[in-house]
Amino acid sequence: MSHNSFGNLLKFTTWGESHGEAIGCVVDGFPANIPIDLKFIQSRLDLRKPGQSKFTTQRQEKDMVKILSGVFNGKSTGSPISFIIYNSDQRSKDYTNIKNKFRPGHADFTYYMKYKNYDYRGGGRSSARETAMRVAAGALSEILLNKIVKPKIKISSAVIQIGENKITNNKWNENFILKNPFFSPNKSIIETWEKSILYHRKKGSSLGAIIEVRVKNCPVGVGEPIYQKLDSELSKAIMSINAVKGIEFGSGFNLVELDGTNASDQMSSKGKKISFHSNHAGGILGGISSGQDIVFRYIVKPTSSVLSEKNTISKDLKNTKIRTVGRHDPCVGIRAVPVGIAMTNFVLADLILMCHSKLF
Ligand SMILES: Cc1cc2nc3c(=O)[nH]c(=O)nc-3n(C[C@H](O)[C@H](O)[C@H](O)COP(=O)(O)O)c2cc1C
Repeated sequence: MSHNSFGNLLKFTTWGESHGEAIGCVVDGFPANIPIDLKFIQSRLDLRKPGQSKFTTQRQEKDMVKILSGVFNGKSTGSPISFIIYNSDQRSKDYTNIKNKFRPGHADFTYYMKYKNYDYRGGGRSSARETAMRVAAGALSEILLNKIVKPKIKISSAVIQIGENKITNNKWNENFILKNPFFSPNKSIIETWEKSILYHRKKGSSLGAIIEVRVKNCPVGVGEPIYQKLDSELSKAIMSINAVKGIEFGSGFNLVELDGTNASDQMSSKGKKISFHSNHAGGILGGISSGQDIVFRYIVKPTSSVLSEKNTISKDLKNTKIRTVGRHDPCVGIRAVPVGIAMTNFVLADLILMCHSKLF
């Protein structure tokens, strides 16, 4: 299996399986002499770790990260930085009954067709356990961005829709996002989401979510036309997250309802101060950041592993039924939020390093 790496000048490679001994990643291309705060990296992982509320899986993965290389006396040395997290609380036996059946909505079938094997214990490499390492690499890139970009880039992300219930964007309360189990920016939706998630969990099902990301203070000029555009790199990063099924920037698919006069972001200046009259483009023009807020949304499908019975096929291609036991998120979109932030940080750090490099 190839392509376990992401990035260009700054690159991370992840390794490991959900039910193996450990997962890890190696970050290559990280500049030397940057102070590395492991507690900060751990705090980012803590936002993703399961078992924190009744609205996420009850698996108790502690996700304690260790640095194995590339940091000396608290600073990066310039050599590859390796992270490791030992797996715990896997309960592989939860999967023995479904050992020979492909779980619908998972990668079991495609991995088996392609590699003639797959890890029935939670998907192995295809499991979203891998995303913990993206959060570690993303936190490292956030440290770098905070050091090299002034004023600091500020990424904010929240769940804006679960199932049919969505919030309206003008009710975005930054301080509230980390104070509730849904990463919601709006208090008034909480009760509705609680009820609908618990209702779907009780009937053995799950819900999807839409997540919005807002990036403030991204300098003008980030992104390399033609094939390393900021929006195409972000799309690749976000679409590579498990269960993500779509992404849109700015007004996205709603642009179809506007005419050309109103859909383009008109501009004016006062002295040296430039202003855009709207942000339908989501802060990116021609693949390059415009200095406006970068805004995008992505959709995470409903969790595939649910308690209700589904039709599927076995390895010998016979029709059968499957019911997934084990502990699963009733809405995986919630735990995708820190992963999306991590990938956004990584893309920005990589492309900003390219801007700094004399080669580009
Ligand atoms: C943070 C996170 C946690 C996830 N946890 C689960 C889970 O507990 N159960 C499940 O069925 N899918 C879960 N998923 C989604 C699956 O990993 C994903 O649907 C599967 O690997 C197939 O990939 P695809 O949906 O991108 O095609 C999770 C996704 C993310 C981002």
